[in-house]
Amino acid sequence: MSTNLMYFDRNENQYGPAPACFEVLRNAEIQHMSFYSRDFVRGVKSTLSERIAEVFDIPENFVLLGYGGEDILKQTVHCYLAEGEKIMIPSHSWWYYKSIADEVDGIKVEYPIVEGETSYEYDIEAMRAMYTEHKPRVVLISSPNNPTGNSMSREDLEALLDFMSDTVVVLDEAYWSFANATDESLGELHTRYPNLLVVRTFSKYYALAGIRIGFALMGRNLTQLAQYSARYLGYHRLSELVALAALDSPDYYRDIAQKMENDKAMFRDRLGVLPGFKVFNSEANFVLVKIPEEIKATLKEALTAQGLIVKFMNEDLLHSHLRITLGTQEQNRLLADAIVSFMEQKAGA
Ligand SMILES: Cc1ncc(COP(=O)(O)O)c(C=O)c1O
Repeated sequence: MSTNLMYFDRNENQYGPAPACFEVLRNAEIQHMSFYSRDFVRGVKSTLSERIAEVFDIPENFVLLGYGGEDILKQTVHCYLAEGEKIMIPSHSWWYYKSIADEVDGIKVEYPIVEGETSYEYDIEAMRAMYTEHKPRVVLISSPNNPTGNSMSREDLEALLDFMSDTVVVLDEAYWSFANATDESLGELHTRYPNLLVVRTFSKYYALAGIRIGFALMGRNLTQLAQYSARYLGYHRLSELVALAALDSPDYYRDIAQKMENDKAMFRDRLGVLPGFKVFNSEANFVLVKIPEEIKATLKEALTAQGLIVKFMNEDLLHSHLRITLGTQEQNRLLADAIVSFMEQKAGA
């Protein structure tokens, strides 16, 4: 097996963060590491939460910070979902949602995500019907969703939020920004929907998974969560400075996002024509590819032997699928070459 492993399996960003982020670490000073933040004296969480509030034009006290989206999702479910209460989650989605619901002995109600011609789609009518039937305490929506890569349109989202006004709606937008250069007035959503929590992260688009920072915009009725998550002594100061430097580097990140858009098209063009393959549209930094079930084991073996580590899905609903996290352009080309040549050899055998 090759010793140079390339990871296409973890939804990390292989391009790495903007140069300005490394500058922050080179210029670190004693107070960034040895002293607590004094921002609480000023009545705000931190300079990062202030900056986020400014970006989305909402008051700072509605910005929540956490150790990645993971932490915020977990806190939210632990705060609102009691034993025996129901949480609606997508049928095809990040396994972790189920895990946090189980931690509090919540009841999981899975709503469908339906396979379409070119992408998976939310079934809004089915969601409404299940909401009416189950009266969940929490509804979790992932957009773009992992591993399907599909998003919920703003129109559908607003229709649902109007309908689901007496529950906590958590919108996980960990993969936002790759396909969306603008933020489409998220602040306005925040103002209109007091039970909505929008969760974002610096891990994906900003390539900062290792510094563990996520944030959320918290609707004004979610004061219980504000109290639950408050951290008197502050947050990770150096990580926050790195995150601020990332926010100051929009051109660097748009360039990467454009490269990823081109590579998604490349995967569609090259893999989409292979027999039995289907490449789904994606608004995230990964693509989902359906493959013939019978080649799963041999393809995995062939790719692993070349050091190309791809996620072969092994779930009830997604078991003949690969999820390819986009690497750099060169890495993506190598992977596409390897899959195409595997199929050519198979055809010639
Ligand atoms: C859908 C989704 N939400 C949230 C996260 C959490 O990421 P982080 O905790 O790094 O912000 C992930 C990580 O893979 C994810 O796939």
